[in-house]
Amino acid sequence: MLVSAKEMLVKAKAGHYAVGQFNINNLEWTKAILQTAQELNSPVILGVSEGAGKYMCGFKTVTDMVKAMIDELKITVPVALHLDHGTYEGCYRCIEAGFSSIMFDGSHYPIAENVEKTKELVRVCAEKGLSLEAEVGAIGGEEDGVIGMGECADPNECKQIADLGVTMLAAGIGNIHGKYPANWPGLSFETLAAISEKVGKMPLVLHGGTGIPADMIRKAISLGVSKINVNTECQLAFAAAVRKYVEEGKDLQGKGFDPRKLLAPGVEAIKATVREKMELFGSIGKA
Ligand code: 13P
Repeated sequence: MLVSAKEMLVKAKAGHYAVGQFNINNLEWTKAILQTAQELNSPVILGVSEGAGKYMCGFKTVTDMVKAMIDELKITVPVALHLDHGTYEGCYRCIEAGFSSIMFDGSHYPIAENVEKTKELVRVCAEKGLSLEAEVGAIGGEEDGVIGMGECADPNECKQIADLGVTMLAAGIGNIHGKYPANWPGLSFETLAAISEKVGKMPLVLHGGTGIPADMIRKAISLGVSKINVNTECQLAFAAAVRKYVEEGKDLQGKGFDPRKLLAPGVEAIKATVREKMELFGSIGKA
């Protein structure tokens, strides 16, 4: 059964650990993440971007696959199926498709419009028992080959959005999606501390979990981060493992071309990455 992310994040905030959101791309990804969460008795959030949803033949296909897998694999740890960086329209499509959690990314709107749209979604999600993540201060990342540095959110705007009754809040603190450039100045703990003080008990979300040094992750958790998103790191681990398999010529030996064999090292690499993150985030045994 899918659950809202609310309870797992309230517990994480109170227990000073974080729950990982791992983005999924296909069946292998989903299975690897669910099995690792179950093995480690950890709550987990499966993230789906609009692009990944489209790739997997739509949000309905994703919901049905995840629900069936939870059933078939006898997954008993709490699993939330969450829309990552949703548009306003995308949020409604996921609600209809049966997601248990959504993110509305209104960070590119003027704050008044972000507030209006978030408010509307707070009402809809409350009615349906879904968790809702909002965002203030755009998260940087690579776009057309240019890596934008992450913005730092205004703590007062964070409070304004948090007070609308969202479940969790993503606030820019200098974090970016994808690999961090060599000249990245690091997370702004000053901004994080100021936001934390303003929003009180609201679980905070750290996007761009790939490549943030472990000590910064631990410090962010100590300052109120309860959900950490990881996407690129699983992709890099998967690609490196499959590349190694092919470079060693294993696809040319016997039935090594069988996709179940060809993709197996990639799956193992995702599992190892998820395990490592769950250890670092402190969510093991917290299901
Ligand atoms: P990374 O791809 O940098 O891990 O970021 C993931 C993320 O924040 C998804 O919203």
